[in-house]
Amino acid sequence: MEPRNHRIAVLAGDGIGEEVVREGLKILRTAASRFGFRTTLKEYPYGTDHFLKTGEILPDAALAEMRGMSAILLGAIGDPRVEVGKIEFGIIARLRFDLDLFVNLRPIRLYAEHLCPLKGKTPADVDLVVVRENTEDAYAGIHGFLHKGGPDEVAIQEMVYTRKGVERVIRYAFELARKRNKKRKLTLIDKANAVRAQDLWTRVFEEVGRDFPDIERDHAYVDACCMWLVKNPEWFDVAVAPNLFGDIVTDLGAMIQGGMGIAASGNIHPGRVSMFEPIHGSAPKYRGQGKANPLATINAVGMMLEFLGEGDAARAIEGAIERLLVGKRIPHLGAGALPTSEIGDLVAAEIAGAPAAAAPR
Ligand code: IPM
Ligand code: MG
Repeated sequence: MEPRNHRIAVLAGDGIGEEVVREGLKILRTAASRFGFRTTLKEYPYGTDHFLKTGEILPDAALAEMRGMSAILLGAIGDPRVEVGKIEFGIIARLRFDLDLFVNLRPIRLYAEHLCPLKGKTPADVDLVVVRENTEDAYAGIHGFLHKGGPDEVAIQEMVYTRKGVERVIRYAFELARKRNKKRKLTLIDKANAVRAQDLWTRVFEEVGRDFPDIERDHAYVDACCMWLVKNPEWFDVAVAPNLFGDIVTDLGAMIQGGMGIAASGNIHPGRVSMFEPIHGSAPKYRGQGKANPLATINAVGMMLEFLGEGDAARAIEGAIERLLVGKRIPHLGAGALPTSEIGDLVAAEIAGAPAAAAPR
């Protein structure tokens, strides 16, 4: 039988992107030889350097090519040499919108107690997944300025929700709560008491929820959600949120799992090419210093492998990270914990020595 082959587009991007992606690919290679699959990689140069050299952000032809691949691994985008948002929206948001990656999956898991900034919380207390809607809301890009620069300036940006868009992401979240089979609970995060358009979320949550009588329905306004995530993170299992609130609460979530150095995400359209990336930014000040922590990108590689049907490899990567953190062989999740490539080497060695089928958790 031919070994499974996954075609991966690699977009290292800006800042520390290249360094962390190098370690991600190291782990991908290790996992491939350990678990018997193949990968065909295609690296793309897009990012701020490329834009400054050529004026090109993300050409249509490259995007068309990516549509035919199995997955995309992205490092980080953002560079102070170009106006805020230009390259981020030209690459990250374009991939999310044009590939219709409507789910932004953000697991929040504490791997080792000492990494948690919350007093008295253990790994059993911090284990949730946020399903962030990824194609609508304030990110839809409907905005404008009137009398720009003048004393009577008006600025608007629309929060856009469609029934189809809300329905598909809520359904995905209910299905995930069922598949995870932990607390079997789904929390809707919104601000429907102030943003009245989010009443659509309230109604669709209720409607779709009727198809999932086995899943407990829970609700938190986004402000209260921020409070509960700090005070009682153990109340959460799966949560679903509109795009902008999902963006905000997942940075908070990253902190309670130990920091941006570990938080990964998947931009997913089930059954189609999907994109995986660390949540952290490009950290231009650390560029080229070899001290960025690559664990978030390595975790993103794990999520990508799970998506590609390589569940054993995904669990082996997560298990390796967990053991290295619990044993403090990687002392913390910040920059400079260890040299970037050394962290990659440690994870690779741990995977190479792991049992072929790590026990599911
Ligand atoms: C994220 C980031 C992006 C977002 C930025 C870079 C546009 O913060 O992926 O969470 O807001 O979605
Ligand atoms: Mg963000």
